[in-house]
Amino acid sequence: MADTEFEPRIIAFLCNWCTYTGADLAGTSRIQYPPNIRVIRLMCSGALDPVYVSKALLEGADGVLIGGCHPGDCHYQTGNYKARRRVAILKSILKQLGFDEDRIWLRWISASEGRLFADTVTEMVAALKAKGPNPLKGAWDI
Ligand code: FES
Repeated sequence: MADTEFEPRIIAFLCNWCTYTGADLAGTSRIQYPPNIRVIRLMCSGALDPVYVSKALLEGADGVLIGGCHPGDCHYQTGNYKARRRVAILKSILKQLGFDEDRIWLRWISASEGRLFADTVTEMVAALKAKGPNPLKGAWDI
């Protein structure tokens, strides 16, 4: 059963040109969303090394959000397609290891979609609250 007091911690890797700017728009438009997210800005979702995602989860993040430009809009042509492939492979490996791969979300959110960014964070927080804490949290504490 999920803990009602549980506040998930989400690490977000956001593309500078689209989702990061969309997050900025949400802020400047004063659109409310839960404060459970810590953002790391990348120049492109294609710059995301899957090791960063694994490390965040192994160190106790409850979820990882990856945000990039919509297909066809990547400023580096194909970075988001590469990100999509890498995330699919990572999720399949994590699933094989018994980890809940749905803690990783990949979403395309443009610079003009501040509302979508806020809604995505709100949905992700609700989904993670329903799942409960990352079972790996504290696994490495001795
Ligand atoms: Fe945004 Fe590549 S520049 S995903």
